[in-house]
Amino acid sequence: MSSLNQKNVLLGVTGGIAAYKSPDVVRRLRDAGAAVRVAMTANAGHFITALTLQAVSDQAVYRKLLDADSESTMGHIELARWADVVLVAPATADFLARLAHGLADDILTTLCLATEAPVAVAPAMNQQMWQHPASQENLATLRARGVSVFGPAEGSQACGEVGPGRMLEAADLAERLSALFESGALDKVKVVITAGPTHEAIDPVRNITNRSSGKMGYAVARAAAESGAEVVLVSGPTYLSCPRGVRRIAVTSAAEMHAAVLREIADADVFVGVAAVADYRPEKFHPQKIKKHSDRLTLELVRNPDILAAVAALDNPPYTVGFAAETHNVEKLAREKLLKKGVDMIAANQVGDIDIGLESDENALTLIDRGDAVSLPRMNKDKLARALVAEIANRYCAKSRSKNPRRARR
Ligand code: PMT
Repeated sequence: MSSLNQKNVLLGVTGGIAAYKSPDVVRRLRDAGAAVRVAMTANAGHFITALTLQAVSDQAVYRKLLDADSESTMGHIELARWADVVLVAPATADFLARLAHGLADDILTTLCLATEAPVAVAPAMNQQMWQHPASQENLATLRARGVSVFGPAEGSQACGEVGPGRMLEAADLAERLSALFESGALDKVKVVITAGPTHEAIDPVRNITNRSSGKMGYAVARAAAESGAEVVLVSGPTYLSCPRGVRRIAVTSAAEMHAAVLREIADADVFVGVAAVADYRPEKFHPQKIKKHSDRLTLELVRNPDILAAVAALDNPPYTVGFAAETHNVEKLAREKLLKKGVDMIAANQVGDIDIGLESDENALTLIDRGDAVSLPRMNKDKLARALVAEIANRYCAKSRSKNPRRARR
């Protein structure tokens, strides 16, 4: 499975002959599991119709900046936020110049300025135009700002000339885009992650559980794998499929999760406890279904082991990150948990009567360690997990280098 799986790709199409390849680009991206939305410039319309791109992407195509219809479905700022990555293919010399100079006079340049997502361009133009110092200076400016430049390829051109300026093939573009999500920041680092709820059995048909869907923990596992880590995901019961490159250990109860984590942790470098582990379990498991004999039923509960605290208390603990799901006084209670459980960092997570966090596709976190807190604002869980994993990678590497040479990156 590609790293583009479940990613939101905004494809920009500008006015060059290579725009005839854009439907194939859309198809390759969708084959790789990405959701694709297309924004095209007015000149692109001379080479490819919006209807074709709408048909292959299965989404309305964005053509104008101030278009009442498009703005009423997903406005351009919302679209810029939606994107996990922007790919402009083909990118003409004119578009690259306008992007380099920060113009925002059409839908595509505006989206490129408004997005926080990485931007990649696939230049396509006549070979003289490509080699012109103005084009090369614009490219250098864009590269310096972190824009990825894919290609161009060399060969015979639509204008009859031969040289550099052909847009890369669609399959190549999809592969390069996928590679953007594989950062290598956690190369050869073993990361153990817990996710999802636990089920604490009362009898063969009933259990105590909570609303965790596992989405946040799975997103963290996916982001860690994309960063090059060897990822073990100890997962409570969920309906989610295992992310690419991740080894999943399925468990049911807190006791099973505790045992699985302890089996995996000895050679782990990083531990992230995202699971909503049940704090208590029924003291007694009833081997037969409990019958309704009376109006009241009392269940005696006993404490479950605290997995996070147990990992942090190991002799040579990994870099340990906990989550703190709280409904009120979120930061204060998270700080208390950081100290009580002895972890390196805690991600404070507001839950309760809000539309993000538990079960939702979106979340927001405040990362707290012994230094300043870092806020990761509301965004989709995949994006949030990538930001979280980048923070963990920085702090883990800094700690490994300064304090514990044995755990320095291998
Ligand atoms: O799964 P989703 O629907 O995507 O929702 C994500 C989430 C809201 C569940 C997740 O982002 C989150 O906040 N997870 C932590 C939930 C939780 O149990 O928090 P807590 O404050 O009760 O626990 C603090 C920490 O100790 C957590 O890292 C937890 O994994 C860990 N813990 C708790 C109890 C226990 N017995 N063992 C533990 O390891």
